[in-house]
Amino acid sequence: MNERTFRVWRGDADGGDFAEFDVEVNEGEVILDVVHRIQAEQAPDLAVRWNCKAGKCGSCSAEVNGMPRLMCMTRMNLFADDEPVTITPLRTFPVVRDLVTDVSFNYQKARSMPAFAPPEDLKPGEYRMQQVDVERSQEFRKCIECFLCQNTCHVVRDHEENKPPFSGPRLFIRAAELDMHPLDARDDRREEAQDDQGLGLCNITKCCTEVCPEHIKITDNAIIPMKERVAGDRYDPLVWLGRKIFRK
Ligand code: SF4
Ligand code: F3S
Ligand code: FES
Repeated sequence: MNERTFRVWRGDADGGDFAEFDVEVNEGEVILDVVHRIQAEQAPDLAVRWNCKAGKCGSCSAEVNGMPRLMCMTRMNLFADDEPVTITPLRTFPVVRDLVTDVSFNYQKARSMPAFAPPEDLKPGEYRMQQVDVERSQEFRKCIECFLCQNTCHVVRDHEENKPPFSGPRLFIRAAELDMHPLDARDDRREEAQDDQGLGLCNITKCCTEVCPEHIKITDNAIIPMKERVAGDRYDPLVWLGRKIFRK
């Protein structure tokens, strides 16, 4: 056990500042353990959101020394013994209080995405697809909705004005999953991603992929293939002719 110094941002939508805490840290502990000890011993009103403490609910997202992370999966031994540890709320979303942010932006964007649309002549129980197609979408299904990717993406991180036209990487993997789904009857997923969800604003910096705790290859496996297909559709003369004829 050793004593370490933590700087934790405290405040609300009207502003705030850092509070400093000296806290005992035990071997093997994670940042969330420390936050709980601060709550238990020094600041019982410190607001923090968490649920599973196992990296699966996506609730405990915050920034630790400037890096977006799950607090329950960030071990203290990542930081040097004499290194102060600073914990701040996610920067891209409005602060509710202390480490809790309002992430409803992401749910609004999710609601605006058309749902899975199976062919009308298939009933539940009649869906059949190849294992290779199941496995492709399973990567995207690992998402725990921690919104670290949304928080990190520079398109919206410091640009509130980009939020209306930009759904962000978490929703791009949803669009890609449905676009690649053999039973989804909508044939304009990638066009919607480009035109309505702001795929064109992404310049594939890959920061979203770097912070994803589920190691989903957001950029390489979802964003880039969709961008390539949009470009192919728009500039392939045969596809263009087909769209004209069939009004797609
Ligand atoms: Fe979190 Fe990864 Fe899902 Fe983004 S894609 S919300 S980083 S789990
Ligand atoms: Fe943003 Fe990821 Fe694209 S960080 S710019 S959505 S590659
Ligand atoms: Fe559930 Fe951290 S508490 S992911």
